[in-house]
Amino acid sequence: TERTLILIKPDGVARGLTGEILRRAEAKGYRITRLTQVEARAEQLAAHYAEHEGKPFYQPLVDFMSSGPLVAAVLEGDRVIEGFRSLAGATEPTTAAPGTIRGDLGRDWGEKVQKNLVHGSDSPESAAREISIWFD
Ligand code: GTP
Ligand code: MG
Repeated sequence: TERTLILIKPDGVARGLTGEILRRAEAKGYRITRLTQVEARAEQLAAHYAEHEGKPFYQPLVDFMSSGPLVAAVLEGDRVIEGFRSLAGATEPTTAAPGTIRGDLGRDWGEKVQKNLVHGSDSPESAAREISIWFD
């Protein structure tokens, strides 16, 4: 079994999609072992997005992630890291496949930052690092 850190970004929380997104993860068979709603602190976002520092979308992304509450969760299950990213779909909502969270529900038109509803860790190392950022 494996663990991953997911975030429901401020667009997802504001649009009332928290339940729908968690429902898809649970329906797939993943267990929610930690769950909290938070207003992200600047240092949490700096740590979470350290790999993107210096990129043109970094500041808009951090501003967006600070724009309202987000939901952080730990999911557990076999190959959940790969599996949740598959459920989430491609980064850009416009081209994310139908059937995925971003493809079915995401909207990115006219935005400097992709309001793509969710984050999911991309490796076991990222998952361990990110879980420690969002949970004690
Ligand atoms: P996460 O699960 O959120 O990490 O998404 P990802 O792994 O599909 O994307 P990545 O880690 O490369 O980028 C993190 C976030 O930055 C994305 O989810 C987008 O919100 C934003 N982002 C990434 N690349 C771009 C880009 O080229 N342009 C813009 N505007 N935003 C981007
Ligand atoms: Mg990523």
